[in-house]
Amino acid sequence: MNPITVSMTRFMQEHPKLKYIFFGGKGGVGKTVMAGAAALWAAKQGKRTLLASTNPVHSLSNLLEKDVFGKTAMVCDQENCFAFEIDTKDTIERSKQEIREKINWFLKFADITTQAEEFIESATMNPAFALWVDKMLKSREEAKSLRELLSFSKKKEADPLMDYLLGFKERMARAKELLTDEALTAFFFVTLPESLPIAVITRFINWFHEFGIPVGGVIVNGVIQKEQVADDAAAFVHNRIAMQQEHLQEIWRIFGERVRALLPLFETEIKGAATLHRLESSLFA
Ligand SMILES: Nc1ncnc2c1ncn2[C@@H]1O[C@H](COP(=O)(O)OP(=O)(O)O)[C@@H](O)[C@H]1O
Ligand SMILES: [Mg+2]
Repeated sequence: MNPITVSMTRFMQEHPKLKYIFFGGKGGVGKTVMAGAAALWAAKQGKRTLLASTNPVHSLSNLLEKDVFGKTAMVCDQENCFAFEIDTKDTIERSKQEIREKINWFLKFADITTQAEEFIESATMNPAFALWVDKMLKSREEAKSLRELLSFSKKKEADPLMDYLLGFKERMARAKELLTDEALTAFFFVTLPESLPIAVITRFINWFHEFGIPVGGVIVNGVIQKEQVADDAAAFVHNRIAMQQEHLQEIWRIFGERVRALLPLFETEIKGAATLHRLESSLFA
């Protein structure tokens, strides 16, 4: 019972221009190890590969057994494969600093004496930042045209805040374009044969469809191999196998042709080169 119609390998063959591969799912299901295995595979196909993580939990360093936090290192001695854990805190801080400078310039320019800090905090920590950028752009444009109307000279004035906002908007539009291009981007969702992780990715997949973000498929991880279990194994093992079988039925029912791989529960965790190579050959069997 393994009715996979389009495997990982076949999906990759059908998407030769694929450039951005993401792995999503509930915590602990195996996103990091799958990303590692996929990076290794891509590198072995001759592609220059970057395995990146934005997760504040430093899981890549743990997986690769070397420190890649805020710096790159080679993955499993594969010369064209590098890993990098993004220092999210530092990245956000730098972006805040950038916008802080522009806003302070604007406040000074407009002769407003107020503390910019609270404003910057709410602007940069808010998920609706893009909407805020739009609003700011509009009011900056209005202020600008008003100033132009009132002044007799038509010479163009430098406006760092406006430039920043326009640049930001352009970058976001470009990112959206790349992330919604199904030739370039694919999101894979990892689940275990358990109810909660299945529920999580069912929701994710619906959202992704709504946003037009390409879903590459579903990877089912941690499947206990029945034939490896003796008849007299402990009851909880047999119960777990039965539970997994039920959830596997549900997975076929919900995701059907979108299932790309079924991966066994290995006898050890995935850590270091040997197990990662092994997972890679299993994911791209
Ligand atoms: N198929 C598997 N067999 C055995 N251990 C696994 C398997 N997949 C993942 N693991 C282990 O499970 C843990 C969670 O995996 P991880 O990739 O860090 O999850 P996530 O990134 O989704 O939080 C890790 O210790 C990993 O080594
Ligand atoms: Mg992880």
